[in-house]
Amino acid sequence: MKNLFDLEKLDAKVRHADLVKEIRKHDKAYYQEDAPHVSDAEYDRLRAALEALEAAHPELITKDSPTQTVGAAPSSGFKKVQHTVPMLSLSNVFTEEDYLEFRDRIFRFLPEAEKQGLALLAEQKIDGLSCSLRYESRKLALAATRGDGTEGEDITANIRTIRDIPQTLPEDAPDIVEIRGEIYMTRSDFIALNEKQEQAGKPVFANPRNAAAGSVRQLDVAVTKQRPLRFFGYALGDVSEKIADTQSGLRERLKAWGFQIPEPSYVGADVDGPWRFYNEIMEQRPDLSYEIDGVVYKVNRIDWQQRLGFVSRAPRWATAHKFPAEQAVTRLNAIEIQVGRTGALTPVARLEPITVGGVVVSNATLHNEDEIARKDIRIGDMVVIQRAGDVIPQVVRVLTEKRTGEETHFIFPQECPICHSLAIREEGEVVRRCTGGLICPAQAVERLKHFVSRLAFDIEGLGAKIIEEFYAEGLIKTPADIFRLETLNKTLEKPLQNREGWGEKSAANLFAAIDQRRSIALNRFIYALGVRQIGEATAKKLAATYGTLEDMQSAMAQAVLDPRFCGESAALQQQPAYDDLLNIEDVGPAVADDLLGFFAEAHNREVLEALKAELQIEPFIRPDTAGSPVAGKTVVFTGTLVTMTRAEAKVRAESLGVKVAGSVSAKTDYVIAGEDAGSKLKKAQALGVAILSEQEWNELSAGKAQES
Ligand code: IVH
Repeated sequence: MKNLFDLEKLDAKVRHADLVKEIRKHDKAYYQEDAPHVSDAEYDRLRAALEALEAAHPELITKDSPTQTVGAAPSSGFKKVQHTVPMLSLSNVFTEEDYLEFRDRIFRFLPEAEKQGLALLAEQKIDGLSCSLRYESRKLALAATRGDGTEGEDITANIRTIRDIPQTLPEDAPDIVEIRGEIYMTRSDFIALNEKQEQAGKPVFANPRNAAAGSVRQLDVAVTKQRPLRFFGYALGDVSEKIADTQSGLRERLKAWGFQIPEPSYVGADVDGPWRFYNEIMEQRPDLSYEIDGVVYKVNRIDWQQRLGFVSRAPRWATAHKFPAEQAVTRLNAIEIQVGRTGALTPVARLEPITVGGVVVSNATLHNEDEIARKDIRIGDMVVIQRAGDVIPQVVRVLTEKRTGEETHFIFPQECPICHSLAIREEGEVVRRCTGGLICPAQAVERLKHFVSRLAFDIEGLGAKIIEEFYAEGLIKTPADIFRLETLNKTLEKPLQNREGWGEKSAANLFAAIDQRRSIALNRFIYALGVRQIGEATAKKLAATYGTLEDMQSAMAQAVLDPRFCGESAALQQQPAYDDLLNIEDVGPAVADDLLGFFAEAHNREVLEALKAELQIEPFIRPDTAGSPVAGKTVVFTGTLVTMTRAEAKVRAESLGVKVAGSVSAKTDYVIAGEDAGSKLKKAQALGVAILSEQEWNELSAGKAQES
């Protein structure tokens, strides 16, 4: 008997291995080579046989069995990739004044641009999704989405199906080159695709951009291949050698390498030229075969682009001139109050749904109570709404001539609609805030949503809706609960995988996505905490200043003991921690207040400790400054510099691993004194801090100075 049983088991094992091998072979042919060997029916029969076998012998199921994975694609979405050179977004100009300010900002940073004449290149701004193509040894090696600018998703397999994208580059291309550009779909291809979708009973796309994005983000490459995607090249990422001196030269080389580029373009040093080009393009817009949402202005000289660099997430050397927002008229049916993560009460207009620029709009922000009064918005009013790009739709004005007398005034609540705590508006503030703090469920949910958002933990599959559901059920109450979800799920009467809309696979994917984020960069972690006024850029600066969470926490604890917080009695020697904090760019007394207040709150400290137990928080990685003779030094620039502006000096110094501070203290290593240096120079002399001339500093940072 025993023997027979073993034989049967052995037989099952062999059959299982055979079936797995067979199915994998077909998967590869279908997904990767796009050349199926068998009919769909035959393939389905093989899969059904495997499923039946596994049902009878569950011990044979392995994690990578074809029954547990989709096709040949990875089951938990796309692989993440780090961008060698960040993928930036663009600042915007809407008015002539904005445009002149864009130029002035360049001149302030780079005065020679004003003296020598600033040539700008203008070209269409394509409304698609940005993508970076990395070629190594002239072969397409990696394609990535922008993601948060630092980390995107590996879409190489999908991108290989796009005909506009060369798989190889000619001999004259450098060893490493990253071409950045836009993936898009033409209007006619979009319409045809939607017709096909409709016939097949599948959902239709709202606009060509969504259709392009949806097609790229297909785990099944075979689907992407059937979608008519195209590509325009317009910028560079990482390169191993110089490609062109100018942006117009770059366009020429891209064209020679087989890329499509947006045509026409304009180059010139005439102030009005780019503006005229914009107006021409706006006229041509309806006749173009693809969608554009404006014109991009770029500094033509690439060496100047490099010197100008970027601020936060956008380059100083380029900006987008967007087309005006699209408007529509509709009825405002109601005003509701939303409570944000910091307790802010925001009025939201519920509208009679209407299509604006191809997107259905049913909500618009009303900002705050003063805005409602200023625009005299009443419930039942006919209103003009507008939407520009990805910005939340807004109510522009009321059509008072359409009033019937039935409209009613909105009375702004004095208490939180969710937790009923008092909502107060502090002196000089426009925002009314719920005072419920930790007891307010709305704030708790919003904080959790922020915690998992794209620039924070970015957990795939854990969106706003699911957070709301899990919070309501008590599965996730605080951020650390997210990382205990899998364990908790095992004890639930009705675990996730048995719920409607979920299955073994989607539950496993969610847990895998959560696990992937157990290790997180310090700057993302700080941003995720959702401290008021601490945005992504400030979080990065805090991470760069303190290096590790532990150091930041102890600095915060010390700064709280500052006499300015605790009255006369506290020890005076604690003051430096507070000054260090104020020395960080973007951090003024109000921001410092919010930050210290956050770290002083016992509950927040508990949240931090609970998270630390679940996570590995990666120390801030400083830019690669190996070989920089001045890395780690703290310097202060003062007075007028001659070889570059203060702004450029600061950017250059930071790229060498130098901390540039705003005021002189005993911790300052060097004060670089330009012409007419004043009080900072005096303070340096009083404190005995080393003082360098601009030239001495340039030599020292270039590694030319002798050791003193
Ligand atoms: S240049 C440093 N040129 O618009 C970034 N961008 O809204 C250099 N875009 O992130 C970008 N058409 O993805 C450039 N002709 C064009 C563009 C373009 C579309 C995208 C780009 C950027 C986004 C900002």
